[in-house]
Amino acid sequence: MTRILRGRLLSFKDSPRRAGAAAYRYLEDGALRIEAGCIVEVGEARDIMARAPAQAVVDDHSGRLILPGFIDTHIHYPQTRVIGSYGEQLLEWLQKYTFVEEQKFADPARAAAVASFFLDELARQGTTTAMVYCAVQPESAEAFFTEAERRNARMIAGKVMMDRNAPPALTDDPQRGYDESKALLTKWHGRGRLGYAISPRFAITSTPAQLEAAGALAREFPDAHVQTHLSENAAEIAMTKSLYPEARDYLDVYERVGLVGPKSVFGHCIHLEPREIASLARHRGVAAFCPTSNLFLGSGLFDEAGLDAAGVRVALATDVGAGTSYSMLQTANEAYKALQLRRQSWPALQAFYQLTQGNARALGLEDRIGALEPGLEADIVVLNSRATPAMAHRMESVDGDLKEELFVLMTMGDDRSVAQTYVAGEKAKPD
Ligand code: GUN
Ligand code: ZN
Repeated sequence: MTRILRGRLLSFKDSPRRAGAAAYRYLEDGALRIEAGCIVEVGEARDIMARAPAQAVVDDHSGRLILPGFIDTHIHYPQTRVIGSYGEQLLEWLQKYTFVEEQKFADPARAAAVASFFLDELARQGTTTAMVYCAVQPESAEAFFTEAERRNARMIAGKVMMDRNAPPALTDDPQRGYDESKALLTKWHGRGRLGYAISPRFAITSTPAQLEAAGALAREFPDAHVQTHLSENAAEIAMTKSLYPEARDYLDVYERVGLVGPKSVFGHCIHLEPREIASLARHRGVAAFCPTSNLFLGSGLFDEAGLDAAGVRVALATDVGAGTSYSMLQTANEAYKALQLRRQSWPALQAFYQLTQGNARALGLEDRIGALEPGLEADIVVLNSRATPAMAHRMESVDGDLKEELFVLMTMGDDRSVAQTYVAGEKAKPD
């Protein structure tokens, strides 16, 4: 089937911070043609429509913005009933809420139901790709991959490896964590649009032997991703240093076992020391900025400008359920505010670059997703800048300025602003 989307096309080729006006392409009356789940042609609507086959389905989104689908680089699917849990900081929050909820994922039926809810919610928010933590039970990852495959969604996920400092029901051991991860990776990595992320939860919940095993797996499968947490909270950093006295710093716990490389995404990275920053940049590792989570747990303020200037690859993420919104628009809103507190500027064009092309690059997926270009997969979000009365009212004073409109969208927008989501060229926003 041929499908044509018509509307205001916006797509980034590069970071506006580096490339300025050449960073993006905007077509006021543009269109793109989709065949077999991929974008095959992009251009002015009159040209694309003139060449369209007679039987093409035309989705007319005139007046709305059409962008590549949003990408969330760090999120926990077993935490859909943890989001909005009161009062604690990281280590207490994990024990009091998260480790209680994640035990329930031993039940495959529950895991399947939550995976379905979760993937519906991402589609509702215009998020078409995510890098996802499952729970420790391999059944939880199995359920997630099964549901993502059914929807033909481009997702990266992995079961967390954890073998200490957690309830017995949530611990594997170095051999079992390795074997179960390898079995899941072998089954799912590269199958359809799915990828595997080797996922040692963080230094505190793994023994040195388990991190060694995770590093061995990463060496065996160098094209798989690695995801973990790094330098989120003061008490966490102190405990990590006491558990790994031989490590030079927190990053070194991962570095010495070979877990730091261009496919590695580290959640938070708030309190990094100069050596860690230099090493993260040298190894091409990615720092995932999780603003709603960092504020919610009182973890601290991410240094976006500092890490970028030091050459660290930066991504943006929700980190639900410590994060408080599934919406990447709301995540950009909170990122902007958190950066304001550090007097760092983050213009709307930079934000929308990050939600799409920037996060695609962070995951090494820019040859598949993250732009509206021929040959890329047709994962797309359609945005309505007047979705609520307050937005429509505010838009009355925008007067054709794209940057201002984008800033209104990221400040006031959420799932109500997502008019439609396309996954591999098919409509995916739940009714
Ligand atoms: N560190 C280890 N596990 C987690 C988690 O589930 N959420 C957050 N925010 N930090 C973590
Ligand atoms: Zn996290």
